[in-house]
Amino acid sequence: MKILGIDTSCDETAAAVVENGREVLSNIIASQITDHQEYGGVVPELASRKHIEAINYIIHRSLNDVNLTFDDIDAIAVTNRPGLIGALLVGVAAAKGLAYSHDLPLLGINHIEGHIYANYMVHDSVTFPHICLTVSGGHTLLVKVYEGWKYTVLGTTQDDAAGEVYDKVAKYLGLGFPGGRIIDELAQEGDPTAIDFPRPMLHSGNYQFSFSGIKTSVRYYIEKTKSNGTDVYNELIIQNIAASFQAAVVDVLVAKTIQAAKTEGVSSITLTGGVAANSQLRSSLTSAANEIDSRVYYPPIGLCTDNGAMIAGIAFEKHKQGLRDSLSLNAAANGSLVEV
Ligand code: KG4
Ligand code: ZN
Repeated sequence: MKILGIDTSCDETAAAVVENGREVLSNIIASQITDHQEYGGVVPELASRKHIEAINYIIHRSLNDVNLTFDDIDAIAVTNRPGLIGALLVGVAAAKGLAYSHDLPLLGINHIEGHIYANYMVHDSVTFPHICLTVSGGHTLLVKVYEGWKYTVLGTTQDDAAGEVYDKVAKYLGLGFPGGRIIDELAQEGDPTAIDFPRPMLHSGNYQFSFSGIKTSVRYYIEKTKSNGTDVYNELIIQNIAASFQAAVVDVLVAKTIQAAKTEGVSSITLTGGVAANSQLRSSLTSAANEIDSRVYYPPIGLCTDNGAMIAGIAFEKHKQGLRDSLSLNAAANGSLVEV
């Protein structure tokens, strides 16, 4: 069964064709990053307009590049929640038009379920139930994932998402947008113990996260250092800030994820979303998991960040479970996981 998956939830216009949930035939992504860069973050109205410009071409490419036509497609899946409402609506409108004109089933998909599914598409040995840490520019979620794609949300962020705080710290340091990868690279040359930034909620006894305190501490540190007449952009200082900030974020993410795996007695941990590309998070989580005989999985970059393949992937499971949406499918800015 071949499903066309469409995602326009944030600043990537994405379409992909996936066979039977796991075989990625095409995965086309048009990033709008350069359009948003001068504003230092994603501008929702601009995102919608750019999706409108790109969507038909990206869908066409997802079929044409692999010599497919709509005659080969069995269903259309589209992210309809959560995300930027105007951006989501572009994908939903396109998907509805295609489903109607080609007489294909339509499935509205939760974007987070797509991120959670991504690891399963490439790793055969992921066991159920498992713990999934989804960390991106918009989300920080610790979820227990059961067979049949059912979920219990263990924890979420009370304020900023993990990726968001990377992007904000990068902005304070004048490093450009999005900042995650830049900080990750700088951190590799710095000392993670140089500055003792706080680890909010580390001992809260639950799975909730809070990152805005770290962000504020970094900002104060930069301001204080500057007011002492020190040049923050002096190489070592900026690298030490990056490394110490990253150590604080990673410490909290790893501690809570490992605690969840231990308490729930699972042997697989999956890491997904844009921040799953972070080298320190990958290595720290992997070594901490080794100590409790758990295994950590993360997807290749093209399935980590926003993409249509993960949407087509989870849609295959939902289609098997009988999900069909009508042409009155709507988009929603919020959308929590349906829990068991
Ligand atoms: O999943 P994604 O592409 O989009 C959202 O759904 O938000 O995630 C983008 C986020 C950005 O905040 C970006 O700074 C962050 O992922 N990111 C990273 C790294 N690469 C991307 N954060 C930390 N380290 C990285 N290597
Ligand atoms: Zn995402």
